[in-house]
Amino acid sequence: MTPTDAKTSFPSLKVQPMDIDNRPRNLSFVRSAPERHWLGGDPVATAWFNALSLTFPDGERFFIDAVKAHRHLAEGKLAEDVKDFIVQEALHTREHAALNGHIDHGHYPVDKIEAMVKARTDLGRTRGPIPMLVVTTCLEHFTAILADDMLKNDKDLSAAPDNLRRLWLWHAVEETEHKSVAYDLWQRVAARWSHFGRYMIRVRAMAIVSCMFMWNVTTYALMLLKADGITGFEARKRLYGYLLGRPGPLRRIAGAYFDWYRPGFHPWDHDNRTLLDQWRPVFDAEARAIQAAE
Ligand SMILES: [Fe+2]
Ligand SMILES: [Fe+2]
Repeated sequence: MTPTDAKTSFPSLKVQPMDIDNRPRNLSFVRSAPERHWLGGDPVATAWFNALSLTFPDGERFFIDAVKAHRHLAEGKLAEDVKDFIVQEALHTREHAALNGHIDHGHYPVDKIEAMVKARTDLGRTRGPIPMLVVTTCLEHFTAILADDMLKNDKDLSAAPDNLRRLWLWHAVEETEHKSVAYDLWQRVAARWSHFGRYMIRVRAMAIVSCMFMWNVTTYALMLLKADGITGFEARKRLYGYLLGRPGPLRRIAGAYFDWYRPGFHPWDHDNRTLLDQWRPVFDAEARAIQAAE
């Protein structure tokens, strides 16, 4: 699929398709503490999702600030998309902070993990606005392909309580909707750079960000498992078995991940609008019901 060109002053750029908007849905999901191993009683699956959730509030505030710093480059539809991106990520932050607040702080090293996440995002902020935006495009690629996988394999969440299942699927829908917003801004930042220079920065950043992201999230998951008494080789075997074996979310996204390294890649080269057509009505209906009740 070739993304539709928007009418912008950067006419040669690939951009988000014109029929995709990313209007935020102000939904709340977490009002009480879930069971300790809320994903079907499985400590490993729960640790993976909790580890991801613990990275989101600070991580997504980082994305918001990276995008805000370049919003003056957006015009027309992209300006609208940027505005909605900021609200979507702020709502994701709020909902994941609510979930994180309900993880048992007495049992799990939640404060320690949150401090580690904050230290990493604080370090990233010292690099300045353009590196922050490049890192954001890389992490948004991760969230987009993980979201795509989650929406295709929602059965992986079938053993979760309904509110948490909906939380993750709502987040996945909105990550898909706005998956190229940061990237489209980055294209504007780098519009006058050489193709090769732009490519090298994007690829080098992804190589570094991938190692750090995977190392960090698996470290957090192993810390959570340790609190459950699952440690050492056993913990690693079970965690990597979950991620790469069965159900294997990381194995399933490998091909989409490597597409980033193709020259000329754009997030909407993965055209999953059909998947969005399937899931958006679910959360649009929830948002409408809440509005009607207000
Ligand atoms: Fe998000
Ligand atoms: Fe995002």
